[in-house]
Amino acid sequence: MWNQPAAGRSRAFGAQNLGPSATRSDTGNRYTGAMALRICFIASEVAPLAKTGGLADVSGALAKYLHAAGHDIRLFMPLYAQIDRSTLEVWPVEFLQNVPLQLGSHALRFDVHTARLPGASTMVYLIDCPQLYARGSLYTNDVDEHLRFIALTHAALLACQRMGFAPHILHCNDWHTALAPLLLRTVFAWDSLFAETRSLLTLHNLGYQGSFSSDLAADTGLGPATGQLDAGERYAGRINPLREGILHADHISTVSPTYAQEIQTAEHGWGLDGVLRQRAGHLTGLLNGVDYEDWDPRHDRHLPRHYNANQLGIKAELKQLLQQRVGLEALAQRPLIGVVSRLTLQKGFELLFDTLPQLLQERDASLVVLGSGDARYEDFFAALAQLWPQRVAFQRGYNEELSHWIEAGSDIFLMPSLYEPCGLNQMYSLRYGTVPVVRRTGGLADSVQQFDADTRSGTGVVFNDFDGGGVAWGLNTALDLYQHKALWRRLVQNGMAQDFSWRKQVGAYERLYQHLLQGPRT
Ligand code: ADP
Ligand code: GLC
Repeated sequence: MWNQPAAGRSRAFGAQNLGPSATRSDTGNRYTGAMALRICFIASEVAPLAKTGGLADVSGALAKYLHAAGHDIRLFMPLYAQIDRSTLEVWPVEFLQNVPLQLGSHALRFDVHTARLPGASTMVYLIDCPQLYARGSLYTNDVDEHLRFIALTHAALLACQRMGFAPHILHCNDWHTALAPLLLRTVFAWDSLFAETRSLLTLHNLGYQGSFSSDLAADTGLGPATGQLDAGERYAGRINPLREGILHADHISTVSPTYAQEIQTAEHGWGLDGVLRQRAGHLTGLLNGVDYEDWDPRHDRHLPRHYNANQLGIKAELKQLLQQRVGLEALAQRPLIGVVSRLTLQKGFELLFDTLPQLLQERDASLVVLGSGDARYEDFFAALAQLWPQRVAFQRGYNEELSHWIEAGSDIFLMPSLYEPCGLNQMYSLRYGTVPVVRRTGGLADSVQQFDADTRSGTGVVFNDFDGGGVAWGLNTALDLYQHKALWRRLVQNGMAQDFSWRKQVGAYERLYQHLLQGPRT
C-alpha cells in the first residue's frame, strides 16, 4: 500500500502538546454546521516566515483569521533555509521525525517541526528536508523543482495521518500543492481518516503551472495511480500539476470574482481555460483580504509616525522622510508615484517603457520603485533613475520595511498589470491614503472604483486598455486630480474608508468550506 504507515499511527499531537487536539473520534468527520472545522492548509510560502509575493500574505492571514474564528487549522510549509530561526521558537513533532518518503528513485527523509506563526496564534508545521529546502531562494530553476513541492504535499498528508488529524478540508494553493486532491483520491484513499475530507484548490496565479517532463512521472509518488494523470498533457510529454488540481479538486477558488471569469477565456486561461470551463460549476472567486494588523497607517510597526484619515499632514511628513531616504529631492508639492512589485511580465511595466520618459518630461512628478525580477524591467528603472536622479529612485531587491514606507509616503500607487488575480498593494494603498492607478483587470477591477469628480465617489483611477495610452491616461488623470486639493483629499479619504479586512473576508471561506462539506465529493 502506498505510503501506508507500517505501524499504524498515533493520535498524539506531538511532543509539547501544542495546539488543539483533534481526532476523528470526537464528533465524527461530517461537518454539522456550527462546529469548528479541521483544515489542512498547504502552501509554498507563508508570511512572515517566507515570502516572495501575495501568496505568502494570503496564506499567513487566512490561517490566522480562520484560527481566530475557532477552526483547527494546520498550516504546512517547507522549512526553507531562508526562514529566520533566531527569533522563532521551533519544536520537533515527536511522531514526525526522520519520516521516509519514497518518490520515484528519490529516497527522502523529513522531519516536522512546529512553531507559532509570528503575529498569530496559529500553529505552523515546517517540513524539514534540507536536501530540498536549503537552496539559494524559495523557488529555483533546479531540475528537481517539481519534487520539492510534491514532497511538501506528501509530507503534509503523511503528517495528518501520523497526528490522527482528520481534516474536513484539504486546502491547497497554486501549482506547488495542486497534486494534493489527486493524492487524496488515490494514494491516501485507503485511509478512512480522509473519508469525509473535501479538497479545495485556490488559484492565485494561473501563469505558473509547474509543468515537468512526463519522464519524471514516478516522482509524483502516485504509484499505480500514475495512469490517472491527464493523458493530453502526457501525450505532449508533460505533467501539469495545476491541471491535475483543477481536474481533481472538489472545488476550485480564485482570488477575485473577476479573475474567476477571466480565466475561463483563452486570453487569460494560459491553456487551462477549457478545463476551467468544464469545471465552472465548481469554481468560485473570493476576493482576498487585508490583514490590517500589519497594513494600517494608524499602527504600522515599520513606520516612524502614524496617521489616520484626518491626519494627512503626518502622511506628508512621511513622504518627505521617504524622499530623503531614497535620495529624491524632497518637495512637498511634487506628487510621488510609488511602485512595489515583482518585476515580471504579469505586472505590465513594459507599458512604461515609452510612457514614463515622456511623462517625466511633461509633468512635475517623481517615482520610487522597489522590486526585482526580469532584467529588462530592472534595467529600465535603473536607467530612468540615472537619467533623473532627483526624481526617480529605484531600489532593487526585496525590502519589507521599505514597502510599508512606500505605501505610506507615496501619493499615487501604480499597478498597470497585464493580469492580476487579486493584487494586494492596491488594497494596502487605499488604507494608506495612496491613490491607486490600476488597470481594469482581475482583483484590481474588483477593489478600485474609478473616481467621479461630479459625485465625488470612487477610490482610484482605473484604465482599461493595456497600452501606453491607457497608462498615460491613468497617470495624467491622477496627476490632474492631485492639483485640486479638495477633490484629492476626498479621493484619498474615500479610499481610507474602505474595508477589505480578512476579518470580513474569512467568512466567505467558511461558507465555501461549509458548502463543500454539505455536498457530495465531486
Ligand atoms: P504578487 O503576489 O503577484 O506578487 P500581490 O499584490 O498579491 O502580487 O502581493 C505582493 C506582495 O509582495 C505585497 O505584500 C507586496 O508588498 C510584496 N512585495 C512585492 N515586491 C516586493 C519587494 N520588492 N519588497 C517588499 N515587498 C514586496
Ligand atoms: C498571486 C497573484 C496576486 C494575488 C496573490 C495572492 O501572486 O499574482 O494577484 O494577489 O497571488 O492571492
